Amino acid sequence: MALDDVLDRIDTDIDAATDRLLDLLRIPSISTDPAFKSACDDAADWLVKDLNDIGIKTTKRATPGHPMVVGHVDGPADKPHILFYGHYDVQPVDPLELWDRDPFDPAVEETAKGRVIRGRGAADDKGQLMTIIEALRAWKVVNGEFPCRMTLFLEGEEESGSPSLVPFMKEHADELRADYAMICDTGMFQSKVPAIVTMLRGLLGEEITITGPDLDLHSGMYGGVAMNPARVLSKVIAALHDDTGRITVPGFYDGVPELPDTIQAQWQGLAFDHKTFLGDVGLSVPAGEQDRMPIEMIWSRPTCEVNGMWSGYTGAGFKTVLPSQAHAKISFRLVGVQDPLAIRESFRKMVSDIVPSDCKVSFQAHGASQGSVFETVDPAFEKARHALTDEWGVPAAYVGCGGSIPIAGHFQKILNTTPVLIGFGKDDDAIHSPNEKYDMQSFHKGIRSWARILDALT
Ligand code: BES
Ligand code: MN
Ligand code: MN
Repeated sequence: MALDDVLDRIDTDIDAATDRLLDLLRIPSISTDPAFKSACDDAADWLVKDLNDIGIKTTKRATPGHPMVVGHVDGPADKPHILFYGHYDVQPVDPLELWDRDPFDPAVEETAKGRVIRGRGAADDKGQLMTIIEALRAWKVVNGEFPCRMTLFLEGEEESGSPSLVPFMKEHADELRADYAMICDTGMFQSKVPAIVTMLRGLLGEEITITGPDLDLHSGMYGGVAMNPARVLSKVIAALHDDTGRITVPGFYDGVPELPDTIQAQWQGLAFDHKTFLGDVGLSVPAGEQDRMPIEMIWSRPTCEVNGMWSGYTGAGFKTVLPSQAHAKISFRLVGVQDPLAIRESFRKMVSDIVPSDCKVSFQAHGASQGSVFETVDPAFEKARHALTDEWGVPAAYVGCGGSIPIAGHFQKILNTTPVLIGFGKDDDAIHSPNEKYDMQSFHKGIRSWARILDALT
């Protein structure tokens, strides 16, 4: 049977596939840092070449930011048109001193928990996007052709908020519209159960700068009489949650739905083990809204987190300074039909009302996307779920995801294309963190999973 031949080919080619991934991981395509602009271009070129090598007509497409990579294969009209999405850009590597190796000198390592591919982007998202490409490569080698019409759509700005994405999707809507958009950028449930994500949170980013005195001051000369902006910032941040973990921005919960019964039932069947989930990162007490289950806190409830805050002297030793400015980067995860722009406005008003008249506050916007929910009525979902079950030997699950992948909602709303989110990441992959890795098992079985899914859908 053709599928078995493809799976065998994947098995015999796994070392070569790993070498190709290591090659891609050596390119430091950090999208948010202008110093790595040409590396992003190099990663796009690498993918264009690789896809053309396996017979997918692919070009690099310029945008005002980093390029998109788009490839096409024709197919019969009675088979679905399947689009595959992944991102070739990666997060910055800081703090570099916490890495055990150069983040862009990747390698296969033996660990107590098995073999891993170590390096920035191994799991987010180069390893994942290569699971798709390797499955297609094996399919082509075995069958000489692809089973259906396909579009490959690889982005290089995902980790910096995808500024060029929506204009590009709108401009090339006819080219990118498909029956399904397979998005490989998520993980497995509790690192063991293959999963299809049916609910994603949105994201709203805000940076605030509070300015007090015109310059840094001696805190003995001025302390007591001059307002300290770090004190003001602390008051702002302390005011964002109440003692029960609820967010206090006025109107914040407008548009937050209760869980639909079907999803409630799916999640209850999962028996999420929050003690292990928190225990693995050295914690034990769920910190969200105290009247909610931990799984809701991660998947279906909105949040407000401080991602960074700085002011005054933070170097070695001690300095008696009264800082001129205090800064914070704050993000909100959004669900349901919460309106990011209304929340931005309400947040800014709330902060401005707390800041005393002698200080100034300014705001910088950092992206705004809504949450999304995907219906699983299309038969493709159950076909894909069974294909995953066959590969992993455990029933695949429909799950939520606390992270944000705004493109999934854009496929739905702009292109009327059904997003199907499947990925093979694990909780301990350390995405966005030092020593990021992707399990060899995720990579190998991920490739095999896509071959099975392609077979099931065509
Ligand atoms: N792949 C992640 C999203 C993700 C995180 C999926 C965790 C599954 C588990 C994606 O690359 C990401 O990091 N998204 C950002 C948003 C983006 C606008 C920077 C996020 O969720 O913070
Ligand atoms: Mn990602
Ligand atoms: Mn990411």
